[in-house]
Amino acid sequence: MSIIKNDFEKMNISRIKDSKNKKKLTVITAYDALFAKLFEEIADMILVGDSLNMSFMGKPDTLSATLEQMIYHTNAVCNGAKNAFVIIDMPFGTYINKDVALKNCVEVYRQTNANAVKIEGGEDKADIIKHLTSNAVAVMGHIGLMPQYVRSEGGYKVRGKTKEDEEQLIRDAIAVEKAGAFAIVVEGVKSDVAKKISQAVNIPIIGIGAGVDTDGQVLVWSDMLGFFEEFKPKFVRHYLDGAKLIKEAVNQYRSDVQDKSFPSKQEEY
Ligand code: KIV
Repeated sequence: MSIIKNDFEKMNISRIKDSKNKKKLTVITAYDALFAKLFEEIADMILVGDSLNMSFMGKPDTLSATLEQMIYHTNAVCNGAKNAFVIIDMPFGTYINKDVALKNCVEVYRQTNANAVKIEGGEDKADIIKHLTSNAVAVMGHIGLMPQYVRSEGGYKVRGKTKEDEEQLIRDAIAVEKAGAFAIVVEGVKSDVAKKISQAVNIPIIGIGAGVDTDGQVLVWSDMLGFFEEFKPKFVRHYLDGAKLIKEAVNQYRSDVQDKSFPSKQEEY
């Protein structure tokens, strides 16, 4: 397996849009400088997802993430991955109307080097997305299963199971594209419907739990590297058994401390 820098090219909005039907995009989340640096020349985009509120803060959902918290982590990611195309998730409640959304996005652009923001919502958020893109904010959409709607929807529900929902999702994608988004995350959608969504728009559809026929994939780093032990969603593939490896390493450290094999003569001053 080749490891790094095989076909890395620094991404920008035009390259991302041009990749449609040419190259599958690989997107991964990161929340800190250390991991962002590891991912930067492999992934096409890094998303500072508000999922950090769950995996980093240990909260049950993303809803309590704050703008301050997202800006802090985005700065960490941008510090670690200076060449990456970085997207920041706008947290719950920070884009409730056009003015609030623009004010908060301007704050994000002032305080971070993020390239773009991500907004959850379809047709219902199109006017807000339009207002942002008309004011020079680059927006990635997010439709389908939207984690910020977990309380209002009564859980995380797979979308696209009925004809009506399929048609709604296609309308959502078209509305978000028309509003000027450069790409859309489609989460937790039946794979045949995600394929139709991808065919209905000219911007890349980045799937998560949406099958193989999208224009790219996004995964949460702590899920795909096996660090998040609470549960494994069906769509996640573990590329590393992170939790097991870490525990083994820390156990070895403890045992070395206890039997005084650490530090050795070479490890002292
Ligand atoms: O918050 C996040 O990490 C996300 C991804 C699941 C797409 O929105």
